[in-house]
Amino acid sequence: MKLLITGGAGFIGSALIRYLIEHTDDTVVNVDKLTYAGNLESLLEVSDNPRYSFVQIDICERAALDQVFTTHQPDAVMHLAAASHVDRSIDGPAEFIQTNIVGTYTMLEAARAYWNTLPEPRKIAFRFHHISTDEVYGDLPHPNDEPADCHGLQPRSDDSTTIASTLSVIASAAKQSTEQTATATPRSAVLPLFTEETSYAPSSPYSASKASSDHLVRAWLRTYGFPTLITNCSNNYGPYQFPEKLIPLVILNALAGKPLPIYGTGDQIRDWLYVEDHVQALYTVLTQGTVGATYNIGGHNEKRNIEVVEAICAILDELVPRISVKIDDISQSAAGLQTDLQEQSPHARTVAPKIDLQEQSRPVQAGSYTELITYVADRPGHDRRYAIDASKIQHELDWMPTETFASGLRKTVQWYLDNHVWCQRVQDGSYQGQRLGITI
Ligand SMILES: NC(=O)c1ccc[n+]([C@@H]2O[C@H](COP(=O)([O-])OP(=O)(O)OC[C@H]3O[C@@H](n4cnc5c(N)ncnc54)[C@H](O)[C@@H]3O)[C@@H](O)[C@H]2O)c1
Repeated sequence: MKLLITGGAGFIGSALIRYLIEHTDDTVVNVDKLTYAGNLESLLEVSDNPRYSFVQIDICERAALDQVFTTHQPDAVMHLAAASHVDRSIDGPAEFIQTNIVGTYTMLEAARAYWNTLPEPRKIAFRFHHISTDEVYGDLPHPNDEPADCHGLQPRSDDSTTIASTLSVIASAAKQSTEQTATATPRSAVLPLFTEETSYAPSSPYSASKASSDHLVRAWLRTYGFPTLITNCSNNYGPYQFPEKLIPLVILNALAGKPLPIYGTGDQIRDWLYVEDHVQALYTVLTQGTVGATYNIGGHNEKRNIEVVEAICAILDELVPRISVKIDDISQSAAGLQTDLQEQSPHARTVAPKIDLQEQSRPVQAGSYTELITYVADRPGHDRRYAIDASKIQHELDWMPTETFASGLRKTVQWYLDNHVWCQRVQDGSYQGQRLGITI
């Protein structure tokens, strides 16, 4: 199969392409504009493979897209290109409207025009898979909510629980939560989850633009009979994620000894999915999903943000403990030093102090990375809880995530520890925009 993948230089797109080249015989053409979020360095391990090629274009450019379809003759499109960071969408929504709505419209029209030229067997087999987010559904009641805060609550669609009884469970979960520490997330089985039937109620410019793109895709299915698939996935984490998102930001800030920012009280709940599980789900949906269907994808890992940050700190405390050098019995004025020299970077740990204090100094444990946690003002319109009901993809397509949050997070932290160069280069932009692949 020949796949046209948009946004393949981003976090999830690059994981998808690495998976396809390693685990399938498919051929991939990667269409990406290479914004700040797109880095071909994430694809170095596949860039020389004859089944992979790259085209640098903007998905809003119709003529360039038409040329890609004509040249590469794909059997399916997997559309991931998007502006994806909620905070950026608040500062500058225009890019989100342009790429996520106009870009998706342009992709749909270019793909439909190409599809109309295909012979009947290829036309029937063709798929346009739109990759979207659970953020289109807005947010869900939170275990801390008082019943009065739960206006608009919809119990899960397969659940006969009444709203009244659900509210009472939420109240009891809230009571339980205030009695427990913030590290325990009481996931009540009756707190509602996002199903494929949940009404759209996006909160941010990002989620509204993704919701709009989902509507366009459904309209192209209904109006033109265009063979689409949609997946709505929860928060992803894993290797190669741009360090503006929570998990890589916390890992890299901690290693640099910088504050670990927590929005509000840090009790926002997200349902975390390891990126390699997500890309396997995407391929399963593409190859086995019912035309026109929507599938929710989630990790069964509801965690408060503060729990996520504390879990990262615990792994770092174990793998790269913070070390101070304690200097004993020495004249401060002669040394011109503080008595504690804190070293928080793994690079710095191997560098000896410049003055010869070895006889008087000794390394001491400098405390946990959790000491760097800093509470900052909450994001406007911040959704409080997301949680996916992934039973449809499980029952219909037999997909389940393989990583637990603990195993996936450990792999992720280790990857960032092992890949300083990638982190440095995406952060300073030194690799962004560099052409490595094949152009049309
Ligand atoms: N990251 C998540 O947790 C998550 C969860 C659910 C769904 N999604 C969705 O998955 C998709 C991929 O997310 P991601 O986290 O990999 O995003 P990302 O920001 O890491 O990557 C986006 C990619 O799209 C490219 N791009 C942006 N604008 C473009 C344009 N106009 N033309 C061509 N290419 C363009 C960028 O260069 C980049 O390579 C998005 O559609 C996002 O909405 C993400």
